Amino acid sequence: MSRYENKDLTKSGVATRNIHLGVNPDPVTGAMTPPIYQTSTYAQEAVGVNKGHTYSRSSNPSVSMLEAKLAGIEYAKYALAFSTGLSATSALIMATLRQGDHIICSDVIFGGTTRLIDQIFSRYGVTATYVDASDVSNVQNAIKDNTKLIFLESPANPTLKLNDIQAICKVAKSERDILVCVDNTFLTGVLQLPLKLGADIVLYSTTKYIEGHNAAVGGALITNNQALYEEFNFIRKSVGFIQAPMDAWITMQGIKTLELRVKQHSQNAYTVAKFLENHPLVKMVNYPGLESFSQADLANRQHIGGLHGGMISFEVTGGFDHALNVMNNVKLFTLAESLGATESLITHPASMTHIGMTKEQRQEFGINDGLIRLSIGLESVDDIIQDIKIAIEQKV
Ligand SMILES: Cc1ncc(COP(=O)(O)O)c(C=O)c1O
Repeated sequence: MSRYENKDLTKSGVATRNIHLGVNPDPVTGAMTPPIYQTSTYAQEAVGVNKGHTYSRSSNPSVSMLEAKLAGIEYAKYALAFSTGLSATSALIMATLRQGDHIICSDVIFGGTTRLIDQIFSRYGVTATYVDASDVSNVQNAIKDNTKLIFLESPANPTLKLNDIQAICKVAKSERDILVCVDNTFLTGVLQLPLKLGADIVLYSTTKYIEGHNAAVGGALITNNQALYEEFNFIRKSVGFIQAPMDAWITMQGIKTLELRVKQHSQNAYTVAKFLENHPLVKMVNYPGLESFSQADLANRQHIGGLHGGMISFEVTGGFDHALNVMNNVKLFTLAESLGATESLITHPASMTHIGMTKEQRQEFGINDGLIRLSIGLESVDDIIQDIKIAIEQKV
């Protein structure tokens, strides 16, 4: 064994773990960065004698390295990497729900998750109730005899509404042992640790902050529960949901700087949110780090280190036309549907991500026509502010 292979990282900080977990210098060449194991199959010494991998639909060394890092981010025992966030969500539902079972979801979640549950899994007899989970009693009241899973997204997209994860887990466990999964895509384990708050499973779209450079799509399921891990693994192999080696390798490089990036995203976002809050053409700003945020107490209790991530939404005073004008006049921000990477992105939920809802539904969830969502990147914050300022002040 090389002297680099026995580092004890059990008590290390998150930055150390993100850099070192899962990878050692290549034992053959000394290469610091491991090769991409771009292989579909593996030579076996004899029947049943192999080096831990047999076929890349089941496992692959590049994917295993990524999984060690993903587990480390959440201080968890097990992680599995998937081809996309939505394939991780599919595996979650296949593993935990059967025909006739019921899932409770927080009401404002990623539209693709809603589509998957309502338009695909409904065909197989799964039913769902969407509740305003910012009030724990709504979750409690929605529990039925056949409820098997509570699925939360906190902060929510695009309103940044929070759910009290610890309180909801208490309800889930006191009623029956209902499983709780938290989509931690917006904050990552750097800023929020759902498993420590009582959740059973963390789900990621690694496409966002985890990879962080708009270079690869991916997803993950992370847990301390061995039986769940084995079931997720069985489904991943049976359906063919595994992450590709190249994307796993790219994602692994991103994780090395995750802590640094997430902290800087958060600091930039706070500065931009403060600027927007004081701008006369801005009606309101949703950002969990603002003193004016309606759930600021919960944000400070639930999020780590007084930081709240890189996502902001805000409403301009001139409604739909004004919002569209902002979208069309930014230059540094890119008009694109994703989040969590080095480049700042801008979306208009009413005409982009949430166009599938009726106007009334959108209004009920606080997604008004003038609402704009920003994924604040890692550019110099003065440049980000200047770009959005000019766009807001353009004549409609
Ligand atoms: C919060 C959240 N969860 C899950 C997903 C789905 O992930 P993917 O696009 O990697 O399938 C997304 C994608 O935007 C997301 O924003």
